[in-house]
Amino acid sequence: MNTLCSLDKLKEQVKNCNKCLLCEGRTKTVFSDGCEKAPIFFIGEAPGKNEDETGLPFVGRAGKLLRSFLDECGYKKEDFYIANTVKCRPPENRKPKPEEKEACRYYLDEQIKFVNPKIIVLVGSTALASFCDDKKLTISKARGKLFKKDGYNFFPVFHPSYLLRYHSMEENSPRYLFKKDLLEILGMIK
Ligand code: URA
Ligand code: SF4
Repeated sequence: MNTLCSLDKLKEQVKNCNKCLLCEGRTKTVFSDGCEKAPIFFIGEAPGKNEDETGLPFVGRAGKLLRSFLDECGYKKEDFYIANTVKCRPPENRKPKPEEKEACRYYLDEQIKFVNPKIIVLVGSTALASFCDDKKLTISKARGKLFKKDGYNFFPVFHPSYLLRYHSMEENSPRYLFKKDLLEILGMIK
């Protein structure tokens, strides 16, 4: 069985999933976007309105901002794969609950196994909390620092929705640090 085939099967499973209550409010499940052989795996939080409508991750305002930063930093299509901690949209864009993330975790873990990336980028505090043992660690403290766990390299970065509130590119501003982190991550795979 090749990789593509297995991920396609998993995606079908997700489409029919009702393992948590988020299934009740979804329009479309949001499985992934990007290259299945990519060295960089971005993990976001959860689908929002635009993602729920299109079935694709990071296509709303925050997603467009992330993608414009990736572009600007020189990321190519084949460099990355994107998914979220949960595949269905939480109501009113609230954060996914721990039990929802747990119910959905199997799919994310399988995605990670299939893609087998060199670096997993934890986009924001929700993704960070899913993989970091220190539950008190904030994204501001964790970002920009590589850590290893279960044989994978993890690199936390700010969530782009946070950057929507700060427009400056001044040294050490959130956007400045976000770009710096993305460039550092790209440098690790080139
Ligand atoms: N869109 C996503 O798909 N995930 C997020 O975390 C935010 C926006
Ligand atoms: Fe299933 Fe995940 Fe959707 Fe919950 S969020 S219903 S576990 S696919």
